[in-house]
Amino acid sequence: MASLKINGVEHQVDADPNMPLLWVLRDILQMTGTKFGCGKGLCGACTVHFNGTPMRSCSLPFAVAIGAEITTIEGLSATGEHPLQKAWIEHKVPQCGYCQSGQLMSAAGLLLTNPKPSDTDIQQAMMGNICRCGTYPRIEAAIKSVAGVGIYQPKAQPTTDTTPSQGGAK
Ligand code: FES
Ligand code: FES
Repeated sequence: MASLKINGVEHQVDADPNMPLLWVLRDILQMTGTKFGCGKGLCGACTVHFNGTPMRSCSLPFAVAIGAEITTIEGLSATGEHPLQKAWIEHKVPQCGYCQSGQLMSAAGLLLTNPKPSDTDIQQAMMGNICRCGTYPRIEAAIKSVAGVGIYQPKAQPTTDTTPSQGGAK
């Protein structure tokens, strides 16, 4: 019996130490938000955070996760209130949805270490997550809206400056 800390909660798991973490999450703990895609570390559908770093849970023996902090899509926000989850809805990112929990976990991992990523940073961080529905432009826009960069930068807050405007709304 081994103890796994997932989303801040300790779970007792009785399984072969070589069983992939993804199997433990889905088949033993019934945490099915993390998806199975390729099973070979190639598509990113199974991405979770391992001590804050995005990892492919299909390729991680669960015994390696003993003593680590594992975060799954269920732990990003229990109520869907994580800024990225809200941005995903606002930008209508998901199509079939199958890749999206992995996409969100990779995006969340990026913003944890790089709150203001460049276009290149975003593309590099997300390139391992495959979307057969082609939602990449919407994903990039949603990440930018949370990061406050690029064309989706939030509108400027009103200031106390009373200088008359030189032109109309832009
Ligand atoms: S299912 Fe893990 S990378 Fe594809
Ligand atoms: S939304 Fe369908 S695979 Fe990405």
